[in-house]
Amino acid sequence: MKLCMIGTGYVGLVSGVCFSDIGNVVYCVDKDKNKIEALNNGKVPIYEPGLEEILKRNYKKKRLIFTTNLKEAVTKSDIIFICVGTPTKKNSNSADLKHVYTVAKELKKIIKKYKIVITKSTVPVTTGDKIENILSKLKKKKLVDIVSNPEFLREGEAIRDFIYPDRVIIGTESNKANKILKSLYLPIIKKMSRYFRTSRRGAEMIKYASNAFLATKISFINELANLSEKTNVDIKDISFGMGLDQRIGDRFLRAGPAYGGSCFPKDTRALLDTGKKFKTDLSIIKTVVNSNNKRKILLTKKIDKILNNNFANKIITFLGVTFKPNTDDMREASSIPMIKYLNKKKCKIRYYDPSGKKKEFFNYKNVKYYNNISSACFKTDLIILHTEWNEFKLLNFKKLVKKDSFLIYDLRNIYSPSKMKKNKLRYFGVGR
Ligand code: UDX
Repeated sequence: MKLCMIGTGYVGLVSGVCFSDIGNVVYCVDKDKNKIEALNNGKVPIYEPGLEEILKRNYKKKRLIFTTNLKEAVTKSDIIFICVGTPTKKNSNSADLKHVYTVAKELKKIIKKYKIVITKSTVPVTTGDKIENILSKLKKKKLVDIVSNPEFLREGEAIRDFIYPDRVIIGTESNKANKILKSLYLPIIKKMSRYFRTSRRGAEMIKYASNAFLATKISFINELANLSEKTNVDIKDISFGMGLDQRIGDRFLRAGPAYGGSCFPKDTRALLDTGKKFKTDLSIIKTVVNSNNKRKILLTKKIDKILNNNFANKIITFLGVTFKPNTDDMREASSIPMIKYLNKKKCKIRYYDPSGKKKEFFNYKNVKYYNNISSACFKTDLIILHTEWNEFKLLNFKKLVKKDSFLIYDLRNIYSPSKMKKNKLRYFGVGR
């Protein structure tokens, strides 16, 4: 089939590349000329393991076309995916849908032959109805079906999530669109994934409900971690013991710093906003959002405690600053408020992250990027293991730091407290 992905951000690019790999011709469109030029030169603007290789393979086979020409791409395609950003609006909780509606208005002028228009961007329930209003003339002439097909791709694991999804959700009232989409997804749904057709509003809601539920699971275990710390219980045992109950499951029960990234914080806020618009109190989600915000302050205070409020001339090393491993994404990473706070305390902050230097810290006087673990840790006073990249999982701290006394604060509970104690290392974890 011929597909058009509008927006070559994370969702559009990963989906476009993966769709081409299962045999479709995919036009990836973006307004950003530099980005399109870079992509045409084989440069991938995001950090996603495996993506570059698949992109180059399909580009060579001419199944992937990167262009700024929306009209041509839409005209030549059967299915149009809207993959533009829906960030939180400034000073509010609501999702900013201006890019989605701009695309819909452009499509109104271009479409002359039947197309399926799909929202892959995360959009609040009823957005599809509004797009349908914009395209109402085309709808009346049966030239368009507007469908919701949310993505569930995790950064760092997006390729696998695309090829082996737990489910493909299609929200449409149109049997014709459903039939076409089922055949588009056939190579994937054959691999055991579930194809679930529901209403368009239902699909829009499933996406928010899923992210909000996962965020709730994380906040739940994070709050219990606070209690475990005070009662001398290891939260890892609690997660494991709970997870053995198949009704609960052990995934997304890892205690850590506040959840971050481009989805959970933004989508929980947007869901609250939708609740408000429809006069429905979503008290659980409200609590989750507050709990996650409070967590950033709580963990920063813990650093005060670990250092006995003695920051003078201290060297603090962050290992990993991204919101999770295998991504260069810094959006809503808990390292940002932590480093901001420590920078004010005038200690010397070093950081190393496998995905490189971060613009977020350019203006901080006391923050310096190191391009390897050893120099970042040399003679440091405190190591903060912020992100669980694989290369941080088997460190010999004494050899790295090369001094008698230093502290380790493991925000991801990578190491065993008893082994650390045995090795006479001063170690702090989360909820243990
Ligand atoms: C998420 C969803 O998982 C995905 O389905 C959706 O489409 C996009 O949003 P992503 O933001 O890439 O994916 O990362 P995810 O792996 O879900 O982690 C989100 C945050 O939760 C990270 O900060 C991570 O460190 C944290 N997390 C996750 C925990 O603290 N504990 C866990 O057990 C799992």
